[in-house]
Amino acid sequence: MPHNALYTDLSGYYDLMCADINYQSQSDNIHRLHQIFGNGGTKHLDLACGTGPHIHHFIKAGYQCHGLDINQPMLDIANQRCPEATFEQGNMCAFKTEQQYDLVTCFLYSIHYCGDIENLISCIESAHKALKTGGILCFNSVDKSHINNTLTAKHSVLHDNNEFSFCSSWFYSGEGEKQTLRLNIEKKTTETTHKWTDEHPMVALNFVELRELLAPHFDVHIFEHEYDKIMAWDKMSGNAIFVCVKK
Ligand SMILES: C[S@@+](CC[C@H](N)C(=O)[O-])C[C@H]1O[C@@H](n2cnc3c(N)ncnc32)[C@H](O)[C@@H]1O
Repeated sequence: MPHNALYTDLSGYYDLMCADINYQSQSDNIHRLHQIFGNGGTKHLDLACGTGPHIHHFIKAGYQCHGLDINQPMLDIANQRCPEATFEQGNMCAFKTEQQYDLVTCFLYSIHYCGDIENLISCIESAHKALKTGGILCFNSVDKSHINNTLTAKHSVLHDNNEFSFCSSWFYSGEGEKQTLRLNIEKKTTETTHKWTDEHPMVALNFVELRELLAPHFDVHIFEHEYDKIMAWDKMSGNAIFVCVKK
């Protein structure tokens, strides 16, 4: 089983796993931050867009959206969900765009899929090039020094007479620039139980390091990881929303 079954063979279950996520509220929050810090434009690029749930809400808010993701099965679902948007298969660590955008987003900690610091720098530079003057890059991130390896998020849902359960947790060894996202997926019918285990390698860094990587290209504003209000980061929380205004 590949490490990223969730985004390939199991992509049809991705939206079930995310059924508890309030995509409307996340998109509204970033839209408000864009109104405050952005240039007033409506061209939007969503990196690691997955099945397109944020794009769906940005289109409703009046944006013209383009989604980029490395896994075509995720994009196939996104295309069905958002026929008004355009999508492209590609690696966010090194992407080039034909047009420029007013807003570039990367949700659900996906920026960490850059895998290592070198690729993360390349992603930041690509996003900078893809933005128009005054455009903004928004994403959320976890600080490696706050990762608690014992915490697990669990979620169960009934679908088509199957009981699905999803468990996800971060793992950070305490050293270096790699962390993993561990996922356990279980599908139970009356007769059988299928189990899958994914382990996704991701880049690990703290917020001081992340701010330093962004600073040559952007004015960086950091907010508490709350989507129903806008609050400056308290410099202690291990999860945050980064709003980066193109210099
Ligand atoms: C946690 S999902 C997030 C999807 C969506 N943004 C959401 O919030 O539901 C992570 C996504 O990142 C994509 N991905 C992983 N590595 C990537 C890369 N290097 N470039 C582009 N997309 C990538 C996966 O295919 C997957 O769709």
